[in-house]
Amino acid sequence: MHIVVAIEDTFASWRETALKALAQHVAPEVIDWRIAGGENNHVDSHTLFDGDAVASFASTAPAEVRISRDLAELLKDAALYRDTTRWAFLYRVLWRWHGGDRAVASPADADGARLYKMAKAVRRAKHDMIAYVRFRLRDASDAEPAPDLPEYVAWYEPEHDVLAWSAEHFARRMGRSTWLISTPDGAAWWDGNALRLERRSTRSTRSGDHVSPTADEAEALWLAYYRSTFNPARLNETALEQHMPVRFWKGLPEGRLIPSMISEAKSGAQRVAQASGVGVLGGKSVPVDAQSAQPARQQPSTLDACRRCELWRHATQAVDGIGPADARIMLIGEQPGDQEDLAGKPFVGPAGRLLDIAIERAGLSRDDLYLTNAVKHFKWMLRGKRRQHKTAAQQEIDACGYWLERELDRVKPAVVVTLGATALGALLHEKISLSDYIDRTLDVGGMQVIATWHPSYALRQQHDDGRERLLAAIAAALTRARELADALRKRQHASH
Ligand code: URA
Repeated sequence: MHIVVAIEDTFASWRETALKALAQHVAPEVIDWRIAGGENNHVDSHTLFDGDAVASFASTAPAEVRISRDLAELLKDAALYRDTTRWAFLYRVLWRWHGGDRAVASPADADGARLYKMAKAVRRAKHDMIAYVRFRLRDASDAEPAPDLPEYVAWYEPEHDVLAWSAEHFARRMGRSTWLISTPDGAAWWDGNALRLERRSTRSTRSGDHVSPTADEAEALWLAYYRSTFNPARLNETALEQHMPVRFWKGLPEGRLIPSMISEAKSGAQRVAQASGVGVLGGKSVPVDAQSAQPARQQPSTLDACRRCELWRHATQAVDGIGPADARIMLIGEQPGDQEDLAGKPFVGPAGRLLDIAIERAGLSRDDLYLTNAVKHFKWMLRGKRRQHKTAAQQEIDACGYWLERELDRVKPAVVVTLGATALGALLHEKISLSDYIDRTLDVGGMQVIATWHPSYALRQQHDDGRERLLAAIAAALTRARELADALRKRQHASH
């Protein structure tokens, strides 16, 4: 038996049909998913063909499927991945989950890994679109005023089907300004009140009338700014391309500047700290010693773009620290675990739950604390179907120290509690033996550092009393951190 099912090319349409197909126990192997109105399609939405016999889901009640929030997010993101087999694939995932096969939601499973990869690519495409769309003021020299035309226009080629998602993002942020984003396969138009999405390559707002992006004053300013911040002495083409991949250049006003600036810099014409455009502004040209102008290594601009070591390759995402920007106490763990890697947040798994108990016992709340890790990517090895934690190498800890330093600089905590040896080693920039430091308070660059056990170590204890002893020690370290932070604050107030 072979069944053709036609849906609209949207998550909602797929979901509705998939739940009905599940209710009818239609196995993934027998369904041929097609897009209604798409090429080679002569079927209507929600209509089944079984050979030549037409069957309809119209009277079928959808199956009740309970899925985790994480899986729901993964499915929604993966649904935006450009791949004609995605609806069939997503149905297979749902079918397996519905049949009780939870492994399908694990990156250690072949389908799970594909699902994560798709979702990750889509999340990156969302991020890229928000970062690289540049609106230009529409040509104001139109013969007649046209209030129905958008004020701003942008052209962009998203890697995946993220136009609708990004359009909502821009609609929330651009107030009542009207705009249009055109892409090769659709357009989004915000009229100041409502968002309209069209699936086609270019949108004409009046018949025969195309909106063409033109340069404006803001763009000229932006170009001048971009040129002035471009430092040929620091040229690192790879890093530049990583930060602003070549495929985005054509959508950006500054994109057309980049190739010429690179070749200018390569020709060695400029060995000054600023590009030639700034020279004509009448400012001072500062000769720079080539040696000191060349940084040892170009730094990544965002944690997500970090390639300082190889751990990013196998992690779902980088996990940044979380908490108030002015927290008095910072907790540093080792590295994200399996659940943190999937959620993108530190300490949300079993170790985090034990840590929560210690935090509560210490009279603190997560809301008071900045929580982070020495290493920001999950390092793991496959054990059966499980991704088992693997301790980071010193080189990886050192590479990630760049991000920890930035967090310490930004938050400036009065007290730091290190959980386990890796965190303390990262702060002290050396491999240490934790038992030499346990329960001691150190002064590290003006910060009070309290070393304690890692909650995972407590979880690994065979006996309850061993676990309780370590939990009590962690709670005691946190209590001391709270008291110390309070005492330091009082001292600070008294001296003012
Ligand atoms: N273990 C850690 O060290 N950090 C986390 O975020 C989770 C588990």
